[in-house]
Amino acid sequence: MNKKTVRDIDVKGKKVLVRCDFNVPQDENLEITDNRRIVAALDTIKYLIENNAKVILCSHLGRPKGEVKKEFSLLPVAKELTRLLGKEVKLADDVIGDSAKNLTENMKEGEIVLLENVRFDKREEENDDEFSKELASLAEIYVNDAFGTAHRAHASTAGVAKYLPAVSGFLIEKELNFMGKALENPERPFVAILGGKKVSDKIGVIDALLEKVDTLMIGGGMAYTFFKSMGYNVGDSICELDKLDLATSLMEKAKQKGVKLMLPVDTKVGKEFSKDTESKIVKYTEIPDGWEGFDIGTETIEMYKKELEKAKTVIWNGPIGLFEFDQFAVGTNEIAKKLAEIDAVTIVGGGDCAAAVEKAGVADKLTHVSTGGGASLEFLEGKKLPGIECLQDK
Ligand code: 3PG
Repeated sequence: MNKKTVRDIDVKGKKVLVRCDFNVPQDENLEITDNRRIVAALDTIKYLIENNAKVILCSHLGRPKGEVKKEFSLLPVAKELTRLLGKEVKLADDVIGDSAKNLTENMKEGEIVLLENVRFDKREEENDDEFSKELASLAEIYVNDAFGTAHRAHASTAGVAKYLPAVSGFLIEKELNFMGKALENPERPFVAILGGKKVSDKIGVIDALLEKVDTLMIGGGMAYTFFKSMGYNVGDSICELDKLDLATSLMEKAKQKGVKLMLPVDTKVGKEFSKDTESKIVKYTEIPDGWEGFDIGTETIEMYKKELEKAKTVIWNGPIGLFEFDQFAVGTNEIAKKLAEIDAVTIVGGGDCAAAVEKAGVADKLTHVSTGGGASLEFLEGKKLPGIECLQDK
């Protein structure tokens, strides 16, 4: 990575504003159900404490749209950070108001304050200059470590970098090193697995990956748009009728580029969208009316697994089926388990996919599980991420 990191700057005794992505899932009691994004921020926070900085953390949580709403408070995050660090993390009542100012004014070295949800102020998402300036005035150095939000040009992810020396944290460094290396200099065969509901969400990434990979495997809801474009019936399966030509042209492009584009040869269909619905496996050419495709079938699983055995680099983004329902999680689980077995660089991105590999119990056997959803997709597409562009070059 050609951006400066916390290692390249003297933080001793300085107030350091660290933008993290603490946008974590919660249940109806606001309990955090997956703390991976918080755990991923610890290396940078610990480094700053050990190097006697005064640490001011900030993040968004959900989409409160500029309003102060209790259910979007970072209080559960402050508690979880306190638990994980074994050290008190004080939560300010506001973002740049009296509480934030009071708590950050006379901080001691090694102390940690967390500001309230930056999206409680609508100027955050507007990347408002005055707001960025005020946020910056709380600190002397800015560290961005919010990889998951690096594709947003907001005040706390980009605007604030105009007013402070701005460097990256260890999480952003790690994400860029793993994904960047895989894209720039992959050991081959290089295989990409793309799932998810819609082709339209993945056009950019399919297009970009067709320039780089040897094999592209398609799974998830978007497979049905491809089947329909070939003239087959897809029953009640999710299908983007306005994207049929696009699916055809992506298949053409794969052919021109010599990329092996793999589509499912069978699919598990269900009667309705429910976990106990009646289901069966059918050929992709024989999806009956009144049935909806929710997973890949057994033959496809074997075919994809066989291909993965030859791979030396694999990037996976988007679940292969409706993995939230056990009977339709087989494809996703089998692919996850295969990735854990093979001798290859294995990189998984996207919130759903990260949750799927966690659920399959293989997350720690993969080379890298990205904390970014939209951000990792935009990175794979080759787009510039504002939260990274704004940082100082080495
Ligand atoms: C994410 O979960 O993808 C990031 O935290 C960004 O959230 P956003 O889509 O609400 O900007």
